[in-house]
Amino acid sequence: MTLKDERATMAFGRKLARELRAGDVVTLSGALSAGKTTLVRGLLGALGHEGEVPSPSFAIVQPYEAIEPPVWHVDLYRIENASDLEELGLDDIRRDGVLIVEWPEHAGSEAWPEALALSLEVADNGSRALTAEVPASWEGRWPPR
Ligand SMILES: Nc1ncnc2c1ncn2[C@@H]1O[C@H](COP(=O)(O)OP(=O)(O)O)[C@@H](O)[C@H]1O
Ligand SMILES: [Mg+2]
Repeated sequence: MTLKDERATMAFGRKLARELRAGDVVTLSGALSAGKTTLVRGLLGALGHEGEVPSPSFAIVQPYEAIEPPVWHVDLYRIENASDLEELGLDDIRRDGVLIVEWPEHAGSEAWPEALALSLEVADNGSRALTAEVPASWEGRWPPR
């Protein structure tokens, strides 16, 4: 699907928010500035988060626990090996919340086989192409309406 501008990316994030359930993992792939964090901004806004959504590239994990379902926004850009990842304790978090992971490739290719895996690509005209690998658990929820 084509996301023609920043507003479209935000709107897609809002639609996706309505489909989320505790325990979901959504991975967001795409180059620097592809629009990953923008999508998360739309998503968190729709769940009632007010205020900023900083890029978690330095904090690595940014929790949003005052919303339902709670969301942990993760950016693995600076993660270099699996032991760094274990220290984040992401598996504990997942049972009662939603994990949204930018740069999932830094955790290895098989880290979240059950994830809804989204990719954003910058098109020649500057819009973004969104593609998805949709696991069985998302049947009936994809595409979000
Ligand atoms: N669909 C889109 N078309 C054009 N620009 C977009 C789109 N979605 C987001 N952007 C812009 O891309 C830039 C980078 O977005 P960001 O979400 O920070 O990227 P990332 O988290 O992937 O590094 C922002 O300036 C944002 O306005
Ligand atoms: Mg980002």
